[in-house]
Amino acid sequence: MSNRAIQSIRGMNDQLPDACDSWQTVEQTIREVVRLYGYREIRTPILEKTELFHRSIGEQTDIVEKEMYTFTDRNQDSLTLRPEATASCVRAGIEHGLLYNQTQRLWYLGPMFRHERPQKGRYRQFHQFGIEALGWPGPDVDAEIINLGTRLWQYLGLVEIRLEINSLGSPANRARYLEDLRTFLESRHDELDESSRRRLTTNPLRILDSKDSGTQAILDDGPDLASYLDDEDRRHFDCLLEHLERTGIEYHMNSRLVRGLDYYTGAVYEWTTASLGAQNAFCGGGRYDGLVQQLGGLAVPAAGFACGMERLVELYSQQRSITEMAGAEVWMVMLGDTAEAIGYPLAENLREAGIQVVCNCGGGSIGKQLRRADQKRALFAVIIGDDELENRRFTVKPLQSGEEQTSMAEDCLVDFFLAQRNREQSAF
Ligand code: HAM
Repeated sequence: MSNRAIQSIRGMNDQLPDACDSWQTVEQTIREVVRLYGYREIRTPILEKTELFHRSIGEQTDIVEKEMYTFTDRNQDSLTLRPEATASCVRAGIEHGLLYNQTQRLWYLGPMFRHERPQKGRYRQFHQFGIEALGWPGPDVDAEIINLGTRLWQYLGLVEIRLEINSLGSPANRARYLEDLRTFLESRHDELDESSRRRLTTNPLRILDSKDSGTQAILDDGPDLASYLDDEDRRHFDCLLEHLERTGIEYHMNSRLVRGLDYYTGAVYEWTTASLGAQNAFCGGGRYDGLVQQLGGLAVPAAGFACGMERLVELYSQQRSITEMAGAEVWMVMLGDTAEAIGYPLAENLREAGIQVVCNCGGGSIGKQLRRADQKRALFAVIIGDDELENRRFTVKPLQSGEEQTSMAEDCLVDFFLAQRNREQSAF
């Protein structure tokens, strides 16, 4: 058998401890924000029946055509690693009767899988935080979801982000538009880029998304989606924009924004940023009023978004301040067996009070132990050496602030560290 080192799968990343610190802060902030808006968590399996995604995302989309991890299991069932979770939320909602005469404000966070060409910000296993609001037909809930997202970006300190928004109209109006768009583009067939020519027969709406400048110029002469919206579509969309204006949310109309999944109806949007390179959209969503029925449920209106966690954590990490990267609150430095016999129970007492303590393992001189603590960015060292044992007072050495060390009795330690923590927090 080979003893060659085994590597992870291309496009599927390990998150090492330093990165996990940022992930945890972002995840905690998400939990805080969803609570403020009354959303409740839902967890669905990573594997679903393949048919679920064919019937929701759409047969002619990039995701279903070429990006799904699909396989036949031992029972000969076709299963797929979920490429997104909106379809799963709807399936679960129908299956458990959550949508029967009820509304649901849901959120989720977890891994998704798409077999795309990996590059910075685009992975084969990635994570999404998502929101789905099921049961509300009006623009108030679209606005609520956009407000929730905006608050999250604010709490994470993101800057220079842009909200692009469009309305796709009702399916009937969009069908009229698509017919005219196809007729128009067929008349300019030979001038289109290759992938747009292919999409002309499969999914002409996605041509609006084309990166090709020639195709974009042709579209300038074509039919305009906005003029196909009827009064009801317009009223919904205008009302949403008014809500956004009332809460001070800046948006940019983008009449070419169509999104890559087929289930959308009405308002769609994406948040983009210039700080992520080519993969500039970190969150996208919109209304999908037909999906519940399409998947076998009642006619339940719905709206939501999903945010790419890798992209969000990257944006957060670009902004975060150095102080948040601090290591343990306390590093326990212990010289010899007697010191350890006192130090380990003392560490447990401090933890009991909620203080984070890392005990030095593997011995070493006091100097060596302090260097380790410093390397790991601990805030304080509690030193138990010969003098401390003799006096029954512990030396507390600040490691990051440059302040003088002090010595104190065991029963003062908890209050001291809790007071330090409050001082740190109020300095923010
Ligand atoms: P989506 O636009 O396909 O929408 O994905 C949402 C976000 O997931 C993207 O904006 C991006 O940040 C992230 N993302 C997508 N693919 C990758 C990838 N390969 N690597 C890293 N990040 C990625 C949806 O999935 C819909 N379910 C959103 C939704 C929820 N609409 C209504 N409700």
